[in-house]
Amino acid sequence: MTDGELPVTRPVIRRFEAGEWKQYRALRLEMLEDAPTAYVESLDSAREQTDRQWQERAALMAASGCVSLVAGDAAEPADSPHSASPLPAGGVPAEVKVPAGEDLAAARLRALMRVVPKVPQDPDRPRQAVLLSVYVGPELRGSGLADEMLRRAIAGARDELGAVVLELGVHEANGRAQAFYSRHGFKDTGRREPYPLDPDRSEIIMELPLDAPCALEAPEATEAPAEYS
Ligand SMILES: CC(C)(COP(=O)(O)OP(=O)(O)OC[C@H]1O[C@@H](n2cnc3c(N)ncnc32)[C@H](O)[C@@H]1OP(=O)(O)O)[C@@H](O)C(=O)NCCC(=O)NCCS
Repeated sequence: MTDGELPVTRPVIRRFEAGEWKQYRALRLEMLEDAPTAYVESLDSAREQTDRQWQERAALMAASGCVSLVAGDAAEPADSPHSASPLPAGGVPAEVKVPAGEDLAAARLRALMRVVPKVPQDPDRPRQAVLLSVYVGPELRGSGLADEMLRRAIAGARDELGAVVLELGVHEANGRAQAFYSRHGFKDTGRREPYPLDPDRSEIIMELPLDAPCALEAPEATEAPAEYS
């Protein structure tokens, strides 16, 4: 699909499920091809991963203790009251019923956004989470889908992970993502970290203070396996 071309189905925002590892692999390869400096993984190394590795990555993403949101085609029957329809101009429709079983497995993923606890935690600061794997397919950029997913990711960081600060790293040349994060209240901390795939370039570290966590008990900080940004 080319830039500006609308998908034939509504994007449905929902939780990622481990069984969707093939769709995740397809989305991840699309992400790395479309925005190679936005993530800390090269397309070549991703292409070399085995099915087993993709299954393990998907299981990690779907595990409790993190928030992995995807937007996918609804893939519902044509006579469904929620049946596929073009995305309305200027907005994303309200969430609709998620298809189950084979329908869900067949639905293509078009966007991803994840929040994980920061590891290690800075013990001198309130609990920190990290936003990563941010991607919306070119055909859905500027549609408001990214806004809605980020709002839900922020709520997940605060209410499920018990985070008080949400952090991210964005490549210095990625003006669109920087503008997007700024519009949602993220501020440049002034910190710079070398971009791991090209240490001559920098990642800008941005932060968003979160409102006080809701009544949910903050989970214990645990040592998480390495994550792909
Ligand atoms: C980052 C991303 C999720 C944002 O979603 P989006 O739907 O494109 O975001 P929006 O269009 O709502 O907002 C982008 C803003 O940048 C502006 N913009 C567009 N191109 C720009 C550019 N080259 N430089 C600076 N700003 C730009 C837009 O006008 C818009 O401005 P606004 O906030 O004042 O409205 C999406 O662009 C994406 O997936 N990009 C590829 C992957 C990526 O870069 N991920 C981030 C990794 S840190």
